[in-house]
Amino acid sequence: MHLPALALVLAGTALAATNSKNSTKPYSTWMASSFLSKGQKINNHYVAAVIHGGIQKAATTQNDSALLSYVSNAVSSIVTSNGTLIGWNSTYYTLDDQRIGNNILYTWDAEGRKDDKYVIAAKGLREQLNRWPRTPSGGFWHRDPIYTNQMWLDGIYMADTFYATYTSYFEPDNTTAWNDIELQFDLIEEHCRNHTSNLLKHGYSEDKSTVWADPVTGASPYVWDRALGWYFVALVDVLEVWPTTQASYSKILSYFTTLADGIQKAQDASGGWWLLMDEELAGKPGNYIESSATAMFTYAYLKGIRLGLLNEDYRKTAVKAWDLLLDEFIQYEKNGTLSFTGTVTVGSLSGNASYEYYTGVPIVINDGKGAGPFMYAGAEMELAGLE
Ligand SMILES: *[C@@H]1O[C@H](CO)[C@@H](O)[C@H](O)[C@H]1NC(C)=O
Ligand SMILES: *[C@@H]1O[C@H](CO)[C@@H](O)[C@H](O)[C@H]1NC(C)=O
Ligand SMILES: *[C@@H]1O[C@H](CO)[C@@H](O)[C@H](O)[C@H]1NC(C)=O
Ligand SMILES: *[C@@H]1O[C@H](CO)[C@@H](O)[C@H](O)[C@H]1NC(C)=O
Ligand SMILES: *[C@@H]1O[C@H](CO)[C@@H](O)[C@H](O)[C@H]1NC(C)=O
Ligand SMILES: *[C@@H]1O[C@H](CO)[C@@H](O)[C@H](O)[C@H]1NC(C)=O
Ligand SMILES: *[C@@H]1O[C@H](CO)[C@@H](O)[C@H](O)[C@H]1NC(C)=O
Ligand SMILES: *[C@@H]1O[C@H](CO)[C@@H](O)[C@H](O)[C@H]1NC(C)=O
Repeated sequence: MHLPALALVLAGTALAATNSKNSTKPYSTWMASSFLSKGQKINNHYVAAVIHGGIQKAATTQNDSALLSYVSNAVSSIVTSNGTLIGWNSTYYTLDDQRIGNNILYTWDAEGRKDDKYVIAAKGLREQLNRWPRTPSGGFWHRDPIYTNQMWLDGIYMADTFYATYTSYFEPDNTTAWNDIELQFDLIEEHCRNHTSNLLKHGYSEDKSTVWADPVTGASPYVWDRALGWYFVALVDVLEVWPTTQASYSKILSYFTTLADGIQKAQDASGGWWLLMDEELAGKPGNYIESSATAMFTYAYLKGIRLGLLNEDYRKTAVKAWDLLLDEFIQYEKNGTLSFTGTVTVGSLSGNASYEYYTGVPIVINDGKGAGPFMYAGAEMELAGLE
């Protein structure tokens, strides 16, 4: 079909202006099936857990029976009939390996809470938290032994969303557990939050022994977008299950709403967010608009509005971010699949945590830490009737 150039331009403008999709396919399941077409393998690693978490949300939102069946079989395949979680080492303490617990509980719940093997597997992960090495103040070490006495925002998402969901399902009245989860958030807030910008640095070292630790707070030097994305997502996900009867509820809610404000103020005119989000670093050579956090923020804003935790004013922030994802970070492949671009592979506090370090990490296509959150965001856009 040959349309005059002007008509194409006008059509493009109309689409952008109304934010209507340019396809009959929902983006959430489109990205999920695109990932599956590349041959996904599930295991207990957090990246597989995030991708499969995205597929679970997409499949549920769209009631896509093929994807629901795939993801059910995938999660089932890593839990043996006696409840052994394949690949999991119960004496290796790394918060990343707790994230799969969310997929296990989601599957158990979605399938009518019938199959006890999931409860046994989840209980194993939960009991490991009772043995976890902790900082003197009681924070879970990010990893033993290499991140001794360190807490990272990433770890809050990986472990405490599971800890909260497990507690809400099996021990809803265990105030000791709720207080323990609250403590994890409190410690991160105390050491990493900037009360002027309302953003949080990537992590902190409680004994301040690490090269990058601030001598007063112990915090690392920069606000890294993906860590803040994990943290923002963690807050909305735990608030979904946190009993409003717990005294801590309103404080956790205020952590979420004040962070929503800080992130909104840091949004670039393009709709995205900088890899390093400290105010003075916007536009600095080497810094760039990164896709994974843009997807995470979109998800957390829309879910926060859906749950009645955030006001409607944030919807425009989320929709603007979503539009950028579609315009800049979605690549339409010739074979009909979608690719997700512009994701930084990693950001670690294992080295010097310098500006040169963060900005020198490679940017890749189809990284699950970006595409998984894109599925989360797409599902929320669809639930809101915006796609
Ligand atoms: C959607 O829009 C993009 C960019 O405008 C275009 O490349 C792609 O072919 C469109 N896809 C469909 C299925 O219409
Ligand atoms: C579709 O194309 C993309 C990009 O070339 C590729 O990565 C993917 O494996 C292809 N999928 C199928 C099912 O051929
Ligand atoms: C989901 O799809 C199945 C068929 O695939 C149908 O039986 C069921 O009613 C649908 N559920 C909802 C909530 O739409
Ligand atoms: C559970 O099953 C796995 C493999 O199916 C087996 O290796 C393991 O020993 C079993 N554990 C127990 C406690 O029975
Ligand atoms: C489990 O992790 C511990 C601590 O890192 C390690 O010493 C042990 O060798 C691991 N076990 C297996 C089976 O990998
Ligand atoms: C309640 O939570 C605490 C802290 O995690 C734990 O030590 C304890 O075993 C839990 N109690 C029950 C009854 O499950
Ligand atoms: C806290 O945020 C303000 C406003 O962006 C900024 O000027 C200040 O440098 C930040 N402090 C730290 C320690 O990053
Ligand atoms: C920090 O590490 C990066 C590599 O990750 C290196 O390029 C840089 O020179 C180091 N900076 C300092 C101050 O040591």
